[in-house]
Amino acid sequence: MDLILASQSSTRWRILSCARIIAKAVSPQIDEENITRSLMAEKAMPRDIADTLAEHKAKKVSIKNPLSWVLGCDQVLDFEGKVFGKPKTQEDLRQSLIRLSGETHRLITANVMYHNTKPMWRHISVSHMTMHPMTVTEIETYVEKSWPDAQHSAGGYYFEKTPHLFSEVRGNWFDIMGLSIGPIAEYLNQHVNGSVFNAPTVAAVLGHPIAHSKSPCMHGHWLETNKISGSYIAIDIPPGKLFQTVKVLIGAGVMGFNVTLPHKEDALALADYQTPRAKAIGAANTLVVDLKGSITADNTDGYGFITNLKVNSSDWFPQAGSALVLGAGGASRAVLSSLIEAGAPKIYLSNRTLQRAKDVALQLSPLIEVIDWEDKERYLSTVTTVVNTTSLGMTGKPPLEIDLSSINPKAMVTDLVYTPLETPFLVQARSFGCSVVGGVGMLLHQGTPGFEAWFGTCPIVDSEVEALVLK
Ligand code: ATR
Repeated sequence: MDLILASQSSTRWRILSCARIIAKAVSPQIDEENITRSLMAEKAMPRDIADTLAEHKAKKVSIKNPLSWVLGCDQVLDFEGKVFGKPKTQEDLRQSLIRLSGETHRLITANVMYHNTKPMWRHISVSHMTMHPMTVTEIETYVEKSWPDAQHSAGGYYFEKTPHLFSEVRGNWFDIMGLSIGPIAEYLNQHVNGSVFNAPTVAAVLGHPIAHSKSPCMHGHWLETNKISGSYIAIDIPPGKLFQTVKVLIGAGVMGFNVTLPHKEDALALADYQTPRAKAIGAANTLVVDLKGSITADNTDGYGFITNLKVNSSDWFPQAGSALVLGAGGASRAVLSSLIEAGAPKIYLSNRTLQRAKDVALQLSPLIEVIDWEDKERYLSTVTTVVNTTSLGMTGKPPLEIDLSSINPKAMVTDLVYTPLETPFLVQARSFGCSVVGGVGMLLHQGTPGFEAWFGTCPIVDSEVEALVLK
């Protein structure tokens, strides 16, 4: 199929590639502003303005490429019958937010397909977007922070960057992004020979900050290698805003989430169902949304931890002997729960802040014995598993100060830190003959259950995806 997207928008082009539709992008070079102005002077309805603009784009490109299928799209923001364009100045943006805040507006996405210089198909989708009321200070902060992006989008917001500005959304993610991929895929399947396309599924990782997250790269690779119609994005959600934002994103058709700091406890609390392992850990890192919108919260960190060890240390088994776990933070809870579930007979838990370790032990299991941070070397000769769950040893952080000279050489030693790939702690353990396993595998394996639940395929953890996340 020879498809041309009559648009220079990289977002629209990306939406097509999410559905594995290959298209050439050609700029239609129409005078949008003039056309809009004259349509508004004629009191055209907002949906007719979007439709006419989409048609102009498709037609212009089709005339030069009559043999191709040409797709033109346009989006307008309609509030009480008035079209909101891209803000030209910061004052424009301020005024636009004052009008839209606390109100419901409509995002109208028009799609027109041309072939042989003739219109073959058109589709209009409408998304209903309700914004939270914003205070003057919130508007000022938004204008100051978001102006570089805001000036390029109708109404001055990018939904995918600031979904927390909304209290309710009824629509479809891709319509909101500017192209109605589901109906387009359906049309192509019915009318263009050889087309077998599916509307993409959307999943996201939510955290604050989120820019550092390796998850989009990992899931993006799995979508690509498994040729799945889907999209996985990272969204920064300010602390305390997870509840409402997850509901809004589900309203926009997002079907799955990974959740990272500082939202993991909130992610568990907001769910309709909690898996036993998430409940035991007291935090969730994976949310699966079913077709009715019900949310199941899972925690796959412990699964990732155990699978990494099983895959990379074939003769290790958790029942073989007791374990020593260093650190009693969030990651430690997942490690402790999974070790207990896997059959570890006893766990010594050592943490700089003793009380924190005591609290964790009390909540999780009587099999956990808390020991002083200063005593952490005392049990090295007897344990068969040693785990560092603290951030010590990570590039830029202080090293983990520990003398492993008394360690049982048959012990398996692992570190959740994976930058550097082999921490000084693991280097030392290796020098005493222990088998060692780095932490990157835990990151990779914790991602597979979510991917399978959202996209229907269990992805493979291999050296290719490992190299990608370590880049
Ligand atoms: P995570 O979710 O990654 O486990 P966390 O909940 O902040 O993060 O926990 C960090 C762990 O590293 C804790 O066990 C912390 O010990 P405290 O409970 O005493 O804070 C441990 N940690 C961080 N810096 C440390 C240091 N300099 N020395 C010893 N332990 C440290």
